[in-house]
Amino acid sequence: MKAFLYSVMGLLIILVITATTSNPVSNRIKEEAKAKGYMEYTPLEAKKLAEIRCSQCHQLERIAKYCRRCGPPFVVVMTHMERLMSQHQSRNPKKEILGLTKHQEVAVVQVWNALVGNWEADFRREDLVNMVGKHNGHLLALLDTPIEKRPIESGLMKSGQRLKGVYEEQGVGKAQKAGAVKGGNSQ
Ligand code: HEC
Repeated sequence: MKAFLYSVMGLLIILVITATTSNPVSNRIKEEAKAKGYMEYTPLEAKKLAEIRCSQCHQLERIAKYCRRCGPPFVVVMTHMERLMSQHQSRNPKKEILGLTKHQEVAVVQVWNALVGNWEADFRREDLVNMVGKHNGHLLALLDTPIEKRPIESGLMKSGQRLKGVYEEQGVGKAQKAGAVKGGNSQ
């Protein structure tokens, strides 16, 4: 009986060690938990996920070049890429493209918002809701979350990280503002 108890305890200890240390098995378990939303991605983990998953078909440069004037914000881009990813999977079953879970989509949108730009406020809410689509409840929920309550987006913004090659909007914003003032004065 004692021997049985000891072996059960031993097994429990092994399980705890497996779940808490970083070895391939526990990493796999953690990855699953994060993908499904049982555990949160840290801002840096989310950044890594976004960089890997969003460079499967094109280079990150394509994302760096995307901007306020190019089109709708990343919460909408995500729905477009999601469609492309599932189309790609059904057309080319041989070249595997890893898709994203809903939870991962929410994390990845926050990453590009922080590293490239977030211009959700430039759009009317109704238009964004229509573009995102009712079936994307997780992205609509993100839209309703103020930026300071989005841990990944605000975390990356605070650390001042940007995507390499990104169109530096701050400078443009200043120039536009200066231009607007000038225009205002001349009237
Ligand atoms: C299945 C392949 C595939 C994956 C994976 C993919 N993209 Fe794309 N992406 C494309 C294609 C194809 C285009 C160009 C055609 C288009 O815009 O429909 C594109 C274009 C873009 C553009 C430029 C849009 C424009 O209007 O020029 C952006 C920004 C972008 N992708 C972001 C992302 C992000 C963010 C991710 C990760 C969530 C991602 N992509 C993952 C295939 C992909």
